[in-house]
Amino acid sequence: MNDRALFATKIGVIASTVGSAVGLGNLWRFPYVVGTNGGGAFLLTYLFCILLLGLPLMMSEFMVGRKGRCNASVAFSSLSSDKRWNVIGYLGIAASIIILGYYMVVSGWVVDYLYQSIGNDFVGKTGEEIKGDFVDFQSNPFKPLMWVAAFLVANYIILVRGVTKGIEKASNILMPLLFIILIVFSVYALTMPGAKKGLEFIFKPDFSMITGKVFLAALGQAFFSLSIGIGILITFGSYFKNNSNLLATSFTVAMLDIVVALLAGVIIFPVIFSFGDAPTQGPELIFVTIPSLMQHMGFPHFWSILFFTLVAVAALTSTISLCEVAISFINEKFSLNRKQATRILLSLVAILATLSSLSFSTLSEFKMFDMTFFSFSDYISANILLPLGGLLLSIFIGWRVDKNLLLHEFSLNSKLPKGLFKGIIFVIKYLAPILISLIFLSQLGIFN
Ligand code: PHE
Repeated sequence: MNDRALFATKIGVIASTVGSAVGLGNLWRFPYVVGTNGGGAFLLTYLFCILLLGLPLMMSEFMVGRKGRCNASVAFSSLSSDKRWNVIGYLGIAASIIILGYYMVVSGWVVDYLYQSIGNDFVGKTGEEIKGDFVDFQSNPFKPLMWVAAFLVANYIILVRGVTKGIEKASNILMPLLFIILIVFSVYALTMPGAKKGLEFIFKPDFSMITGKVFLAALGQAFFSLSIGIGILITFGSYFKNNSNLLATSFTVAMLDIVVALLAGVIIFPVIFSFGDAPTQGPELIFVTIPSLMQHMGFPHFWSILFFTLVAVAALTSTISLCEVAISFINEKFSLNRKQATRILLSLVAILATLSSLSFSTLSEFKMFDMTFFSFSDYISANILLPLGGLLLSIFIGWRVDKNLLLHEFSLNSKLPKGLFKGIIFVIKYLAPILISLIFLSQLGIFN
């Protein structure tokens, strides 16, 4: 286990972790949950969850991985003799497989949009027409599945080539480019007539909107976006060098992740309000607004190809890292080689993705707790499994792991001020478990 590949450079560490963090969670899920949870109030709650709970938990995951030098399911036993804590790793693996099931579907939509962009299919269409086309596409049982298959194959090819080469190379070059494109789009969006209303929607909190439900959605989105509670950061941590600075890495990743999500919001809401659309549309939000925005910019053909290529790559770096969790588990647990492990995982994901994709057509009447298979997978993973993973992780780190070990690990290669260390421990030990439990309880209707 000691010959695990290590990230070669500091930039490699950050770029790969950002590659995993920045994905459809920022570009697709963030705007849609902001829209359906009341705008500014949600954003504030979300930032609170990232900074106060997300950061310390992110550091904790990195630490567990770096210390354990093995996959998420067994890393915990290297810090505690009680094997039961491995359940956190298993929960994360389950969550990653469920997320992959519907993430692949949305990624497939992105690839279809890339294909349509190449064919210049959006040109001259009104927002209404673009929306109508999306609904038609979604309700066709076969076409979306074809793109899911294409996306699965792309994952397979990259995954069998191994972790450092595949992930590092792709994200090092393309994530900065995505960032630049988002800035260009946001500048354009801000000149639109609905810009003021859009910005107000996202940045002006109406505190009365903060309910238990909004809090849970914000917590789920924070964890989802930072890839917390799943074991991916544990797996990445296991590839870190011993002297990597956990606080600085976590902070940089969280900031970049927030900025990308905010940029997506600053693009999408001004456009929505300019076209007089409702922000509450749900999962189709970016697929309707972005092509409409581009029809109002110069060179729409160029922008749309570039944009959807980069979103597809952002999705790819996230799915690859999601797969990495389960693959390194199957690989090490069942002593299968990487290729076999990848095949097993992707076959399982293909089944889930088929069910998710068909939940917009053939299986639209099939409901679980009043949700389609797609929405159910989204809800159960982001709002239940990830926060639950975070809750258990905080209890484990806060109550089971030796403080001196934590101090040593958290402050390697940096001088962590004592006060800050105490603050982090306080959050992990008390605040995170209590807050996450309260948010869960509020969902059971105990308050509100
Ligand atoms: N954070 C990724 C995104 O925002 C999704 C993801 C979740 C990736 C969990 C890995 C693990 O799209």
